[in-house]
Amino acid sequence: MNKKELISFQNVSFSYETDTENPKTVLQDISFSVMEGEFLCILGHNGSGKSTVAKLSNALLLPDQGRILVDGVDTGDEEQQIEIRKKIGIVFQNPDNQIVASIVEEDVAFGPENLCLPREEIRSRVDAALKAVDMYDRRFHETHRLSGGQKQRVSIAGMIAMRPKCIFFDEPTAMLDPKGRRSILNTIHRLNREYGITVVYITHFMDEAAEADRVMLLSDGRILKTGTPSEVFTQTDLIVRCGLELPDPAKLSFELSELGIRLTPGVLTEQDFIDAFQRFMKESQ
Ligand SMILES: Nc1ncnc2c1ncn2[C@@H]1O[C@H](COP(=O)(O)OP(=O)(O)OP(=O)(O)O)[C@@H](O)[C@H]1O
Ligand SMILES: [Mg+2]
Repeated sequence: MNKKELISFQNVSFSYETDTENPKTVLQDISFSVMEGEFLCILGHNGSGKSTVAKLSNALLLPDQGRILVDGVDTGDEEQQIEIRKKIGIVFQNPDNQIVASIVEEDVAFGPENLCLPREEIRSRVDAALKAVDMYDRRFHETHRLSGGQKQRVSIAGMIAMRPKCIFFDEPTAMLDPKGRRSILNTIHRLNREYGITVVYITHFMDEAAEADRVMLLSDGRILKTGTPSEVFTQTDLIVRCGLELPDPAKLSFELSELGIRLTPGVLTEQDFIDAFQRFMKESQ
């Protein structure tokens, strides 16, 4: 993986301006980096500050204290904010709020058209983006007839067609059924692996974080831990303190350990569980 820093939060604090005299601090002195090419998952319960991190990253919001650099440029530099927003895109959870046109390919073309690109360039970007999310065959379909998952694919395609370096996916599967969730997650992993797009994936589903390169655990505006999924998920007490549920295989492995059946640490997926259980059986024969 490329080791260049794409986004850098340096001692960032933020509160929303409200009428009250004591505005609640939403983010408290957080520092972290997003490395070019990585798949980082930000995991946290409701209201922990995840969406605020996304909006600060592309200068939709600015920090009260500390600074945020995108490709070395301060997000507070007003002249650079348009460039920053071209580099860092955000896909939100409700696709209905992100679709603007009635035909799929027109919707995907909307962003590149606003960049005033030549017509052939727009055409090739739209086709490539639709192929990347497996929606090319439906390019002439009406957007309002699509399923939730298909609509989310179209909004992702619209984002890809802008050619950002990094996309924040802010709970993109929250409105979808389990099958739709899995398929969107696979698409996002493919964009990261095959298209080299840096991904920051925001979720409160731990199982969605299992395949990330790194996981950052956010709770009440503070970073509790950053590490590989197994480094983070073996900290069962932290997970519980964050108000998050362990994935079922991890929960089962934790419950067995309480009964004295200690499987290899780091069980996250069903396959991990099967492997660890087989190893345990073999060793105890
Ligand atoms: N526009 C706003 N004005 C005032 N307070 C806000 C605003 N947006 C968010 N907040 C508050 O800031 C805190 C963090 O919100 P944020 O949306 O970043 O959390 P989140 O982790 O994305 O939550 P969720 O899982 O519900 O999406 C919450 O307490 C929320 O109520
Ligand atoms: Mg949110």
